[in-house]
Amino acid sequence: NNHHSDARGALIVLEGLDRSGKTSQSGRLVSYLNGIGHPVESWRFPDRDTAVGKMISAYLSNESQLDDHTIHLLFSANRWEKRSLMEAKLKSGTSLIVDRYSYSGVAFSSAKGLDIEWCKAPEVGLLAPDLVVYLDIPPEKAAERGGYGGERYEKLEFQKNVAQYYKKLSDASWKIIDACQPMEDVEKQLKEIVLDCVKSCQNGKSVSQLWL
Ligand code: TYD
Repeated sequence: NNHHSDARGALIVLEGLDRSGKTSQSGRLVSYLNGIGHPVESWRFPDRDTAVGKMISAYLSNESQLDDHTIHLLFSANRWEKRSLMEAKLKSGTSLIVDRYSYSGVAFSSAKGLDIEWCKAPEVGLLAPDLVVYLDIPPEKAAERGGYGGERYEKLEFQKNVAQYYKKLSDASWKIIDACQPMEDVEKQLKEIVLDCVKSCQNGKSVSQLWL
């Protein structure tokens, strides 16, 4: 295709509580962008396929126990091990729709009582997203959706705590979408926001780093 040589992909992060609909929406977004000719891939963190990711997965399913600091650093390491590939993809013009990122890392660990600044520190130097979209759902509504699969964090009281830390982390640049709306409405709003972002990244805007 005839992208300008400066054209790079956009780094787009979806955040939200468990059962907020991130995973279905990221699938729909990728099909949409591909359909209109934008190279795009769907990514997620944790990436459970790496060696670190397997340790995280065992912890989440309660097959292993780890100190809160240790698991925090593993989640962060799991992002660091994908950083160079992430950068290469963006530079080659592929956009990434990423289901959870450093904000999940900080919100979930802080919700356990770890110091928020301590939680942010290992994220410093990772690629900063061009766009963060927060799928906003009250914890009670998310719990009602069912399908809390019994993983470690899928409990109402804990999710309430996580929601508060997401609020602390959010800034004016975040796009908040009401995730209680019908899926089609969420999808429509998301497409518009994301398309704007993808276009703005084609003008040679460079990738910056966390943590601002
Ligand atoms: P995820 O795989 O998105 O959940 P699901 O299995 O429901 O698709 O994430 C697993 C859990 O890990 C989720 O409760 C959020 C939490 N998490 C952290 O605590 N720190 C992190 O850095 C990330 C990326 C996720």
